[in-house]
Amino acid sequence: MNLSTLAFTTLMLAACSLAGLPLVVQDDQQTPYTSVNSDTKVPVILGVMSRCPDAVLCETVFDQVLKKVAGKVDLSLTFVAHANASEPDFGVTCKHGPAECAGNVHELCAMKYASPSEFWEFVQCQNYQGIDKIGQPDTALKCANTAQIDWVNSGMGDCAGLDGSGKAPEGILLLQHSVNVTEELGIEKSCTIIINGKQVCIHDGTWKQCENGHNVHDFVRQINHEYKKLNADGSSDEDEL
Ligand SMILES: *[C@@H]1O[C@H](CO)[C@@H](O)[C@H](O)[C@H]1NC(C)=O
Ligand SMILES: *[C@@H]1O[C@H](CO)[C@@H](O)[C@H](O)[C@H]1NC(C)=O
Repeated sequence: MNLSTLAFTTLMLAACSLAGLPLVVQDDQQTPYTSVNSDTKVPVILGVMSRCPDAVLCETVFDQVLKKVAGKVDLSLTFVAHANASEPDFGVTCKHGPAECAGNVHELCAMKYASPSEFWEFVQCQNYQGIDKIGQPDTALKCANTAQIDWVNSGMGDCAGLDGSGKAPEGILLLQHSVNVTEELGIEKSCTIIINGKQVCIHDGTWKQCENGHNVHDFVRQINHEYKKLNADGSSDEDEL
């Protein structure tokens, strides 16, 4: 996506936020993947709602970022929604309705059961179908296929419901847990970007609180900086981009 496309997309965005939560930025996060290499990857967390245009925009930007810092990042999504015991299907109220809760479950199950690259391809595929298709069973099944995730044997199907409903017990628990984590991180807006424990940027209708910039190059630079800090024991001699 080029910058003029981004600017155009920005015009179409509505704010996706939940009011009322205090904003607390924490310094320690858990990363969802364990690195097999000896280097320490930079945890990057995107606070999102699956059907939020701001989230789609952030994920599109980070698709470009990942291509430039491949191997240096552990990217994960954490979902913005409200725990609500009165919600019959998910126990969670999602701003863009139950279909968004289902879309969140699909992405969480892919994050848990697919490889990082398969997971990311799944998310990009969902976004590419269009906001209105995110959360639909056939979208999840189609995108699992596109990302070459074996729906049945990988465990993703059991997690998300073999029929793709997003309403299997494991997926629902993942969503509830993710919503808790999001609140603990003090994230209330989709999309919120956290790099190595620091909130560095929000896209909420427009870019906000992005002290160190908000284009692909700015995020790449910040990730490379954090990667060097995390691996600054002389053993790693990475090239600067
Ligand atoms: C909780 O869920 C119920 C049932 O869907 C809904 O009527 C209510 O508005 C929700 N409460 C909040 C605070 O979202
Ligand atoms: C989410 O947080 C609530 C309130 O602290 C807790 O009761 C619930 O068990 C948590 N759910 C998960 C799945 O972590």
